[in-house]
Amino acid sequence: MVAARLLLLVAVVVGGAGASGDGGGVIRQVTDGWPPGLLPEAQFAAFVRRHGREYSGPEEYARRLRVFAANLARAAAHQALDPTARHGVTPFSDLTREEFEARFTGLAGDARAGNDVRRGMPAPTPAKEEEVAGLPTSFDWRDRGAVTDVKMQGTCGSCWAFSTTGAVEGANFLATGKLLDLSEQQLVDCDHTCDAAKKTECDSGCAGGLMTNAYTYLMSSGGLMEQSAYPYAGAQGSCRFDANRVAVRVANFTVVQSPGGNDGENDGQMRAALVRRGPLAVGLNAAFMQTYVGGVSCPLVCPRAWVNHGVLLVGYGERGFSALRLGYRPYWIIKNSWGKAWGEQGYYRLCRGRNVCGVDSMVSAVAVAPPP
Ligand SMILES: *[C@@H]1O[C@H](CO)[C@@H](O)[C@H](O)[C@H]1NC(C)=O
Repeated sequence: MVAARLLLLVAVVVGGAGASGDGGGVIRQVTDGWPPGLLPEAQFAAFVRRHGREYSGPEEYARRLRVFAANLARAAAHQALDPTARHGVTPFSDLTREEFEARFTGLAGDARAGNDVRRGMPAPTPAKEEEVAGLPTSFDWRDRGAVTDVKMQGTCGSCWAFSTTGAVEGANFLATGKLLDLSEQQLVDCDHTCDAAKKTECDSGCAGGLMTNAYTYLMSSGGLMEQSAYPYAGAQGSCRFDANRVAVRVANFTVVQSPGGNDGENDGQMRAALVRRGPLAVGLNAAFMQTYVGGVSCPLVCPRAWVNHGVLLVGYGERGFSALRLGYRPYWIIKNSWGKAWGEQGYYRLCRGRNVCGVDSMVSAVAVAPPP
């Protein structure tokens, strides 16, 4: 059986109303060529210039133009299903959905068919129930210096490694007051940990993995090196871990459960864990992310069982206003690992409280060991 594993991107959820402003300069750059009305040919030419694309010849150019035109249609369909966000041209508009998922989310095998979104989790230590009263109405770990710059996983299904490092970077900041940029490549090259309960779900470099496996690896290997000591390469290589150069040691991790139901009040445990324990590693269904340009994504249909991408929750806001429709929505702020040219300078806002796209389903917090 093919291992079911998530390629988790690091999604940082940053809270704070207006933290990612609609209509900012970067968003406008990404959406140049939009709105619809321009011929796809003209939009594609602008896209090719903007992103410096070079295709192998006229046939490939024509093929990519067809893919691009199909993605404009898909963005329009996503816009109809997700009216509070903006969908359009993104840095990934010349990739088919299959190419995109293989390169940038990389969920392998049968996981996407599963109904149990917790299937990837090891027998976890559940987080103790947190007091929810008194939490701020909005919160953003970026404002407090706990979040590194948006990174780029490249064409490697290593989102799970970025999600893991984001959580450890945040936990280390909480423990020490220092923000270190930590190494995804160590996880990609060295971590082959398998889930304790589902032994086919193993961390496999660019072919996928799970954040909870990665914490387990870090606890047994001795810790995580810094980016500068073990830089990201975007492809799997041989392990060059040096125990003498560990920058952060992991003490433990817990899984944050959300109560069931869809009454819109189920995110209190996640918010409490986020505020008190730092940025959280989460998995979600990335179906609407290839065409996402900005705003609060609140898709009408986004299967929760199809969790295929790892990201980092860094905050939340009370009301995300969408200019397109009357869309005041409470939202999560999520750090992705697709570079700053995607989304809201690399971030995704997703409406919260109803397990939209499965974002409440696979949530973990990590704690670092005190410095020696
Ligand atoms: C996890 O580690 C931290 C730091 O050492 C410690 O304070 C905390 O009690 C631990 N939590 C669990 C559940 O073991």
